[in-house]
Amino acid sequence: MSAVPSAGNGKITVPSILERKSAVSSKNSSAAKITCLTAYDYPTARLLDEAGVDVLLVGDSLGMVVLGYESTLPVTVEEMLQCTRAVRRGTRRALLVADMPYGSYHDDPKEAVRHAIRFVKEAGAEAIKIEGGERRMELIARLVDAEIPVMGHIGLTPQSVNAFGGFRVQGKTEEAGEQLLRDARAVEAAGAFSIVLESIPRELAARITAKLKIPTIGIGAGPDCDGQVLVIHDLLGLSFGHKPKFARRYADVGEIISRAAAEYCRDVQQGSFPSDEESYHARAEHAGSLFAQRK
Ligand code: KIV
Repeated sequence: MSAVPSAGNGKITVPSILERKSAVSSKNSSAAKITCLTAYDYPTARLLDEAGVDVLLVGDSLGMVVLGYESTLPVTVEEMLQCTRAVRRGTRRALLVADMPYGSYHDDPKEAVRHAIRFVKEAGAEAIKIEGGERRMELIARLVDAEIPVMGHIGLTPQSVNAFGGFRVQGKTEEAGEQLLRDARAVEAAGAFSIVLESIPRELAARITAKLKIPTIGIGAGPDCDGQVLVIHDLLGLSFGHKPKFARRYADVGEIISRAAAEYCRDVQQGSFPSDEESYHARAEHAGSLFAQRK
């Protein structure tokens, strides 16, 4: 595992993310908005880090967009650790946050802390993310006590897909909105340094953002959050199936891959790949004997 790069030289840290909250709330603030994208492998991490993304999240969404599961529920700690190590090797400036997968923090709190420590110690994560509000207060406090910075996550928490009866927008009634505000406050009070707000009404996200001292990072939560996160496969046009309306596609990499693969197949079948220039050649003095041996 490569070491976490030291702070300084523009390295994004947990305190620098917290500082963005006051910068975003001040008047000339748009540059202070926090940018976050998911990453699951070394080349993507390198490209996103070099492009200036502030936070790289090894999301358990990898279960759906990389491993092809129907939900995030089957993702294991080992799968998350392997991807986090790869992202660590490609990341220098960004803050590296790893998702705790379903089942790794839902039972024994001591076991949850042990799992979280593995992400820091074995994979180089600088923070972890867990889903849930009021009911995670005690666990968040324990993790923070163990020197592990925590990013919270409320709203449409994908690990609750069965309890929610599907991937549905949350907080649409007054009562549900009030509960989410209580959840956000609980996550903050427990010591989290930031919180993801997923798929909730813009107005509710704006209210939560105004009430909290920690930054909110929205996904499907409108433009008034302190930062935004997207799943990289959605942004690049590399995901299949339902496309949520907030998932703006900045490129169609899926189309580029399909076209390149089809061209390659055509070239191989037509004999135009590889060309002579793309082939190695024996030295002139050996060429004759090599050729003779093959006969
Ligand atoms: O797993 C993930 O990618 C996430 C983000 C969508 C916030 O939790």
